[in-house]
Amino acid sequence: MRIHVMEADVAAVRTLTAATGFFRPDEVDIAVELVEDGLSKGNTSDYRFFFEDGEDGLVAYACYGRVPCTVASWDLYWIAVDPLLQGQGIGRRLVEAVEADVRRCGGAGIYVDTAGRPDYAPTRGFYMACGYSEAARFPDFYAPDDAKVVYAKRFV
Ligand SMILES: CC(C)(COP(=O)(O)OP(=O)(O)OC[C@H]1O[C@@H](n2cnc3c(N)ncnc32)[C@H](O)[C@@H]1OP(=O)(O)O)[C@@H](O)C(=O)NCCC(=O)NCCS
Repeated sequence: MRIHVMEADVAAVRTLTAATGFFRPDEVDIAVELVEDGLSKGNTSDYRFFFEDGEDGLVAYACYGRVPCTVASWDLYWIAVDPLLQGQGIGRRLVEAVEADVRRCGGAGIYVDTAGRPDYAPTRGFYMACGYSEAARFPDFYAPDDAKVVYAKRFV
């Protein structure tokens, strides 16, 4: 697993996030903007990454960071695994790497926003399998009948 952002990640994250079929084009743009931020600012960026490369390039990544105006809360902003490689433990390994880094940095908990609509059931199942619990739910947040669901894992 790699933490440093490379120039090629900008295009690769666009391709990867779009390929999952889970994100709208405007969401993909935001995922790419965070990678560009990491690329241009390096260690001073608010965003940190783990990248998993395969033989043909990027196959998965996670983006996370400290939540501004909190003492020790962190957000997992993005996680995506190549659809052809999902269900093989890559997502779990990324989450474990993020958790280890957050703990190393003194983080007290990780929060992740996801959607409540039916097609996100696999994603919610993934977070629960990784030990995250539903901490909040905002009905109709993204759209009518599409809640925002916040999952959390606290370390202290
Ligand atoms: C969600 C995602 C990152 C998970 O990555 P992954 O590599 O497929 O997941 P893993 O193989 O590491 O699975 C880890 C655990 O989650 C569980 N899990 C995965 N999919 C699940 C599902 N549909 N229902 C219940 N549990 C599930 C696995 O069973 C596994 O648990 P186990 O180790 O106890 O067997 C990946 O599927 C993905 O990129 N999805 C599309 C994008 C997305 O939804 N991103 C998050 C947006 S908020």
